[in-house]
Order: sequence, then C-alpha cells, then structure tokens
Amino acid sequence: MAVQNVSVVGAGVMGRGIAYVSALAGFHTTLIDVSENQLREAYTFAEKTTRKGIEKEKITELQASELLDHLYTSSQLESTVSTADLLIEAVPEKRELKKQILETADEHAPEHTIFASNTSTISPTELGSYTKRAPQVVVMHFFNPVHRMPLVEIVKGLETSDQTVDLIRDSSEKMGKETVEVNEFPGFVTSRISALVGNEAFQMLQEGVATAEDIDKAVRLGLNYPMGPLELGDLVGLDARLNNLKYLHETLGEKYRPAPLLEQLVQAGRLGRKSGRGIYNYQE
Ligand SMILES: NC(=O)c1ccc[n+]([C@@H]2O[C@H](COP(=O)([O-])OP(=O)(O)OC[C@H]3O[C@@H](n4cnc5c(N)ncnc54)[C@H](O)[C@@H]3O)[C@@H](O)[C@H]2O)c1
Repeated sequence: MAVQNVSVVGAGVMGRGIAYVSALAGFHTTLIDVSENQLREAYTFAEKTTRKGIEKEKITELQASELLDHLYTSSQLESTVSTADLLIEAVPEKRELKKQILETADEHAPEHTIFASNTSTISPTELGSYTKRAPQVVVMHFFNPVHRMPLVEIVKGLETSDQTVDLIRDSSEKMGKETVEVNEFPGFVTSRISALVGNEAFQMLQEGVATAEDIDKAVRLGLNYPMGPLELGDLVGLDARLNNLKYLHETLGEKYRPAPLLEQLVQAGRLGRKSGRGIYNYQE
C-alpha cells in the first residue's frame, strides 16, 4: 500500500512537528485537535518554520508552498480518519485518552489504515488491544523538535506485522528520518536512557553539586551531548519527564524514582518552556 493521506491526532509540541515533516514529504496531511487554538498555532508554526527553512536554504520556496498546500486542519476525528492511510496519534501521554482515540479511529478508519502512536512509554501491544487491527498498530516515536531531530524509533508490539513495520520505515524515510527498530520493553531505548540521565541531573542540582548552568555545560562540553539534561527537560516539559519517570519507576524499579525537586517544580506549575519557566526562566 502507498501512503497518500496521513492524519495526525493532537496538534501540540509533537503533533505539529510530525504534521510538518509529513506534509514536507508530500503526504496529504490533516492535523486534528479538540482545540481550535492549538490548530491555529500549529498552522502558524508550519508557516514560520517554512520561512526559516527558506532563509537557511534547508527547503526551497516551491517545497514550502507545496508543504502548506498539503497541510490541513480539522476538529473532526471521525470524518478525517475515514480517508486516512496512516494515522499518527500524538495526544498527551494518558492511557484512557489514547484508548478513546484509537477506539474511535478503529470504528471510522478504512480497514487498511495503519495506526502509529508517538507514545514515549506505552506498550504497542496494549495500544493494539484497544483496536480490532492489532497487526496494524505500532509505535512511531519521533523526537523534539521533530523537524530537526533525525530519528524515529519503531517499536513493534506482539501482534504488529512485518508489513506494518516496513510501511512505517518507508514513511519515516520519506519524512527524512533514520529509523531504529526496538523490541517492546518499557521506555524503549531513548526514553529509558534520557529519563535516567535527566533524573540524575535533577538529583545533583538538589544536592548542590553544581549550578544548573554548570551541570548542563559539563554534560554538553565534557560528554559531547548537544544539550544539557536540564535544558532538555525544559524543552520536553517537566510534567512529561515526571510522567515518564513515574511509569519507569513502576515498571523497572527503584533506580527510576523521580527526584523530589522535579516533583516540586511540576507541583509549582514550572513545566519548562511551554509554561515560561522550568529550571530556567523564559519569560524575558
Ligand atoms: N514533548 C516531547 O518532547 C515528546 C517527545 C517524544 C514523544 N512525546 C509523546 O508525544 C505525545 C504528545 O506529546 P506532546 O508533548 O506533543 O503533548 P502536548 O500536550 O504538547 O499536545 C497534545 C495535544 O493533544 C490535544 N488533544 C488532547 N485531547 C485530544 C483529543 N481527544 N483529540 C485530539 N487532540 C487532543 C491537545 O489539545 C494538545 O494540542 C505524548 O504521548 C508524549 O509522550 C513527547
């Protein structure tokens, strides 16, 4: 099957990035959200990112105009998925919500439609069990910011077919991404490592080992990471980081217990860039 129509559910940080790379790949892409405001912001994001892409000579004017021509928005999941070949779910990391989206999509999507989830932690076998098409359900894990990060982690559930994995690999490559295939296990590869490194940085900050700036600088320059773990936490969202750690703590044990400082920052509403303040202040 050749993918032509892609539905991306959730127009937040990840969904808007996924829709951007999907439309750039030439797929007719519809971004779906319950919030009109998120849809407007996501379209503005695509316009701004294409402008920057042209300035930096990453894309041509023609590619930019084709991308915007291929990008639609909708608040109607049912009617939009009725023409989708590939659905990519990027709603918040809440089981009940993902279940509800997949169940509704399963009722309204054609039989051939593949369902991919951008979840950072939830098992593709479990996601498949919410549908009557488990062989066509898979995790397609993108990274933030999606238009710059070159990887997609593909995680196969117990029932996921090889054809589904092939189609996701092919679609990811068309979106300009490299892929890795990971066997199902809590946290996959990247979320598990990133959660542990990030949590250690919060512990060190709490213990007074160094300032936030120096912890990040040490990791960037001494360990050759492109970003420090604390600035990465602010980018990803401290609430998302905390949720991942809680899940890994439950499933993999004590070494993933969230640092108390991280819990405190989330309680205070300091969620990172999206709320204007996390470890660092973005309000000025
Ligand atoms: N933020 C990251 O860095 C990152 C990285 C990799 C994976 N992920 C995963 O991607 C997923 C999305 O994360 P995010 O950070 O983009 O979240 P987000 O909170 O920025 O965006 C979620 C969007 O989903 C929308 N939404 C909520 N309920 C909906 C519904 N019923 N129908 C349609 N839309 C609905 C919200 O309005 C919002 O726009 C999560 O599973 C997360 O674990 C996040």
